[in-house]
Amino acid sequence: MQHNVLILDFGSQYTQLIARRVRELNIFCEIFPYNHCPTDLSSYKAVILGGSPYSVRSEDALHIDLSHIRGKLPILAVCYGAQYLAHFSGGEVAASNIREYGRANLSYIKENELFFEKVNFHSQVWMSHSDTIKHLPTNGVKLASTNDVENAAYKIEGETTYAIQFHPEVYHSTDGKQMLENFLVKIAQVEQSFTPNAFVDDCVKELQEKVGNDKVVLGLSGGVDSTVAAVLLNKAIGKNLYCIFVNNGLLRKNEFENVLHQYKDMGLNVKGVDASERFLAELTDVEDPETKRKIIGRVFVEVFDEEAHLLKDVSWLAQGTIYPDVIESVSVKGPSATIKSHHNVGGLPDFMKLKIVEPLRMLFKDEVRRVGATLGIDAELLGRHPFPGPGLSIRILGAITPEKVRILQEVDDIFIKGLKEHGLYDKVWQAGAILLPVNSVGVMGDERTYEKVVALRAVESTDGMTADWVHLPYDFLMKISNEIINKVKGVNRVVYDISSKPPATIEWE
Ligand code: XMP
Repeated sequence: MQHNVLILDFGSQYTQLIARRVRELNIFCEIFPYNHCPTDLSSYKAVILGGSPYSVRSEDALHIDLSHIRGKLPILAVCYGAQYLAHFSGGEVAASNIREYGRANLSYIKENELFFEKVNFHSQVWMSHSDTIKHLPTNGVKLASTNDVENAAYKIEGETTYAIQFHPEVYHSTDGKQMLENFLVKIAQVEQSFTPNAFVDDCVKELQEKVGNDKVVLGLSGGVDSTVAAVLLNKAIGKNLYCIFVNNGLLRKNEFENVLHQYKDMGLNVKGVDASERFLAELTDVEDPETKRKIIGRVFVEVFDEEAHLLKDVSWLAQGTIYPDVIESVSVKGPSATIKSHHNVGGLPDFMKLKIVEPLRMLFKDEVRRVGATLGIDAELLGRHPFPGPGLSIRILGAITPEKVRILQEVDDIFIKGLKEHGLYDKVWQAGAILLPVNSVGVMGDERTYEKVVALRAVESTDGMTADWVHLPYDFLMKISNEIINKVKGVNRVVYDISSKPPATIEWE
């Protein structure tokens, strides 16, 4: 059985980062909210208690019963976890009278401790707390200090329990990953066996057991997640996988044909359904972005359902859900407020009553890409920028017409091709063009023109939650702007969006 590490989340913004670092060590791990800790711990080899925005001293401190974990499994307690262990096990935590936030350097490390093996003596660590551990818990032994923080790290004698007040998972803790490795590999003896190849082998076996000879239907979107999910399932069950790729008429220029072609080349059993006219007819005169999203979501479900019904005896719906969506839906704070109703196009229509299979539900995005590469999926397909489910509809501000879709497809195509030709595409997290609902005056030859304005947007980001505009070279922007105005009939002005998120968003609608 795959060795597994349990990470208990107390609401820290860094919990997912801990999981990412653990996975980078080729160790499998799962995050659970502190109040939904699994009762059966037999598959876990170690437990990490994460940080929290709460104080262990406050009335609303988050409490957990550790009696079935402590002394039974190796524990690494980070930040809140470290303070929690101290405060409720015979030690003392108090408000700190100095700022314990940001970079610090270790000034003392206890000798011959496995936890600090290969860690530099003055190693930089990242602190982020307003409380501090004044007295260690019963049987606590100090392992490290900084100039300001006496009990930066400790262990509990007689147990395999370690605690650190700093965050090993953040990049600024320069030896943080080494400490995680020391704890997990040397101390807890967890196997480093979670590799993309091992994942593919296990996943294919599990899918075969789960699905057997049943038929599975899957909605392909052209994106990385649904593609990797399809290729995995194809490997497991072959022709019993039926893929449906819907053209909503709001994809990029030639995308439907090109991607459909690629899918077929990959050996997928895929049906392309061109429902462009149906989507565009339903969107006639619709200006409100949320209404656009809802219509597209509904029509997608209708089309998908009709197609799925044409297939006989399908019992499973496969989805490309990935781990951040899974964690989000059970987070300590509950699902975060949706600012835009992000339809995950391909979502389950309730009335289809199909069982769900989600082969990627334990993977982070970068892991999905690595698994995709292991499966031999084309690097260009795996490196594609994210593209919203409602497609160009939310980049055409105001009402949508076939002519506006055509204009935006041309503009977008010039921009995206340009990014690729100039080696900029992979440096950008997401890029696209927006058709504005205004006309501007221009001159072409001796003629006055009164035509559309387009905005170009290119952002850097890691997860789309925050983003910054990319400083694309002026020469590049000049070339793209000229090409758009010269080649795309109906556009006489190009602007570049220099807003970050927050306070702006990536999409304009
Ligand atoms: P925003 O505009 O909220 O976008 O900063 C963040 C990320 O989400 C994508 N996005 C969507 N994806 N359906 C989707 O599937 C939607 O309705 C939707 N709206 C925004 C956006 O492209 C960016 O990657």
